[in-house]
Amino acid sequence: MCNKQPDGELLRVHPPVLLKADDPLYRMPDPDSMGYVFLMPEGPRQINEAGDVFYIKDARVAYHDHSRGYETFLIDGGAVESTLNHKQCVMEKGDLMHIRPGVHHGFHHLVENTIWREVFQEIDMYSSCNQRDILRELRPEILADPEFQASRRKRLGTNYREMPLARVVDKHEISQVRPHGCALRSFCFSGMELGLKVGRWETDGVREIWEFRFPKGTTLEFARPFDSSPLYAVMEGAVQADLFDGMDVYTAQERDFLHIPAYTPHSLTIMEENTRIFAYNVQSELLNALEALHAEFTRRPEQMGNWPWIEQVLREYDCWLTGIKFSGQEVNQ
Ligand SMILES: [Fe+2]
Repeated sequence: MCNKQPDGELLRVHPPVLLKADDPLYRMPDPDSMGYVFLMPEGPRQINEAGDVFYIKDARVAYHDHSRGYETFLIDGGAVESTLNHKQCVMEKGDLMHIRPGVHHGFHHLVENTIWREVFQEIDMYSSCNQRDILRELRPEILADPEFQASRRKRLGTNYREMPLARVVDKHEISQVRPHGCALRSFCFSGMELGLKVGRWETDGVREIWEFRFPKGTTLEFARPFDSSPLYAVMEGAVQADLFDGMDVYTAQERDFLHIPAYTPHSLTIMEENTRIFAYNVQSELLNALEALHAEFTRRPEQMGNWPWIEQVLREYDCWLTGIKFSGQEVNQ
């Protein structure tokens, strides 16, 4: 969003807060897929780049690995045969994979319109696809030149390899795959379910990815500004985001993204039963905070009602939650 500013005033450029699944920033058609870009990479670690890709049946992604960057793919419909470090499985709706540098990966789409929900860190997929598309249109002979292809791949850090004779296994046996309903670590407090999908050790220490399921009517308050921009995807149900004490209100439905700008006091309210959201940019050490709370709640259950102490623990781990309400009932007092 870019508005003209009077002379002498700062120009403020913000991506939208609510990113509707059917209203992308860019469409990127390809012969065997249609890409939708929702967010460009942001900050020095190029986080929060988000998009969807719809693949036609039998589309293939050649076996390759990256010398840098992190790819998180959620299969949001259809089915894909995934080969990851010489192991092969079929992934379906709700299955997620997280690919670190050096992990070999290639794909064969088994169903028409198989949907990938992609979130990147240090990949800048948009720029490389955009450059490819410009060359394809204006200078196709350059794009076809093997020497140019080799130098481009080297610059992008992408290394293509021959597809190996892969071993077919259950998807639970592939460490990069987080099947639907599975988490690395799960917690359950007061009806809230929190599952760690990707650990900080898998993002070079930059962030964690969590799946949350909260009861209808739950409100999470982040009343104080903090230095990161949360990115949520609504998987089921609906979430209302209130920014600056209700000055801006957005409601995200299934498949929409919410992107909260840094330093923005806000709250999130769960609007429907069985609402499930993915939090793709958890920069707080939430796993450590929840481990500490879980241990103390087990030892001294009365601490569950001690909000000042809970908030102190959260703050130690850079978690800026300032209160929780369950259907209007506050637990932060
Ligand atoms: Fe890749």
